Amino acid sequence: MISVIVAVAENGTIGDKNTLLWHITEDMKHFRQLTSGHPVVMGRKTYDSLGRPLPNRRNVVITRQPLQIEGCEVVHSLEEALDLFTSDEEVFIIGGAQIYAEAMPLADRFYLTVVEHPYEGDTCFPEWDRTMWELVAEERLEQGVNYPHPFRFETYERKQK
Ligand SMILES: NC(=O)c1ccc[n+]([C@@H]2O[C@H](COP(=O)([O-])OP(=O)(O)OC[C@H]3O[C@@H](n4cnc5c(N)ncnc54)[C@H](OP(=O)(O)O)[C@@H]3O)[C@@H](O)[C@H]2O)c1
Repeated sequence: MISVIVAVAENGTIGDKNTLLWHITEDMKHFRQLTSGHPVVMGRKTYDSLGRPLPNRRNVVITRQPLQIEGCEVVHSLEEALDLFTSDEEVFIIGGAQIYAEAMPLADRFYLTVVEHPYEGDTCFPEWDRTMWELVAEERLEQGVNYPHPFRFETYERKQK
């Protein structure tokens, strides 16, 4: 099973200058709880922004370059990344925008954090067709322990492929 996980500002931005635009402890925890123990697949720029493999997860990095990255499996396409896993394994696509654009048409599940605040950024989540997705879970917080704006966690399942 292919899952996409992302946090998107209300105006569509997800990052700027290869970093995240906010620090929301609850969202980091949500991400960690969902992805721990499962493979994570990311673009090379997202890997650079993390700076290290995520612990307790098989880390797969997609690049066109002949790279070797300690603690990661390096592949040269999304297809090659997905071929590493059987369909009963939940594989998390963790960004960034280029990889999300390729993965959304293939995804079965979509974990979306909506940050209810606009942010200026150079990277946006691609357009996605809401009619193809059913909202199956939703939780909204007015603010975080260290974050002043509301945000909400939404989980979608694909209606049809
Ligand atoms: N808010 C969130 O939840 C979230 C999550 C993740 C990332 N982000 C943000 O998103 C931004 C990064 O996103 P991005 O779109 O710039 O980069 P990205 O998708 O993380 O990585 C792009 C790179 O992936 C490789 N790549 C992409 N398509 C490929 C293909 N078809 N075949 C082989 N390699 C391919 C290329 O690597 P090479 O150049 O090495 O060939 C390309 O430069 C950062 O600001 C990050 O902080 C936000």
